[in-house]
Amino acid sequence: MTNTCIITGASRGIGRAIAVELSKHQEIDNFILMARSEDGLVETRDQMDGQHNIQVVAIDLTDYVQVKEQVHLIGEEYGTIDMLINVAGYANPKSLLETSVEDWEKTYQINIHSLFNITKETVKFMKNTGGKILNVASTAGSSSRPGWSAYASSKAALISFSQTISDELSDYNILVYCVSPGRCATELRKVLAPDEDPTTIMQPEHVGEVVSHLLSEDGVCLDGQDIVIRKQVVKSMKKETANKTS
Ligand SMILES: NC(=O)c1ccc[n+]([C@@H]2O[C@H](COP(=O)([O-])OP(=O)(O)OC[C@H]3O[C@@H](n4cnc5c(N)ncnc54)[C@H](OP(=O)(O)O)[C@@H]3O)[C@@H](O)[C@H]2O)c1
Repeated sequence: MTNTCIITGASRGIGRAIAVELSKHQEIDNFILMARSEDGLVETRDQMDGQHNIQVVAIDLTDYVQVKEQVHLIGEEYGTIDMLINVAGYANPKSLLETSVEDWEKTYQINIHSLFNITKETVKFMKNTGGKILNVASTAGSSSRPGWSAYASSKAALISFSQTISDELSDYNILVYCVSPGRCATELRKVLAPDEDPTTIMQPEHVGEVVSHLLSEDGVCLDGQDIVIRKQVVKSMKKETANKTS
């Protein structure tokens, strides 16, 4: 029996880091990497451990019908889907008065509606064998972010969705994880905080390591919770300064 894992948002950033880290896990045989940029997905595949079967699927996750068809092709080809890692996300931070209905809808389409769609289609296969689903939310989903209402509230919805389906899908032996990274040096973070120095914050690889750990046997008691992944910047900077001066 083989193990099959779908990762969305795998063309760069946190999704790429998770794919690279998970490829070190021999128990996953088939990886399916999804995002719109085929070039980005191929670059991710090139950085992964080459011992796996890695399939690149360039797709817009908001094309719900195409995603449904694609998931069914994957489920039928591999017999089941053992892991789904929902990473794809979008942010365009604006004040309430500057947020258009179109942008509000686009944020929810990517961060919530498409995630619901791929999760539902995947569970149609996963429910026969059990499996693991991991959703990437955000610390913005559990604390106030003035000027980010569309993004932050979509992530709050994702935290709630994750907790709800964690209970609902336990009947099928499906574990649902939700991680909420803090500030992490990616393209999306540049949109949220253009003036920030990316070298001072958490790197995507840090999130990849935590996710990989969670999805191993060690994470067996952490499903259904909103797990914050955050680098304590001030403390580590203090330590670096101390090391330099000692
Ligand atoms: N960076 C942070 O500080 C931070 C903090 C907390 C949470 N997060 C969350 O972490 C996740 C990953 O973000 P990131 O920081 O790694 O950002 P990123 O580098 O901008 O990556 C976003 C990913 O989502 C994919 N994507 C976006 N729209 C898509 C669509 N319509 N169809 C298919 N794929 C789509 C992008 O691929 P294509 O453009 O190729 O389609 C890309 O792979 C997001 O859910 C984000 O909200 C990030």
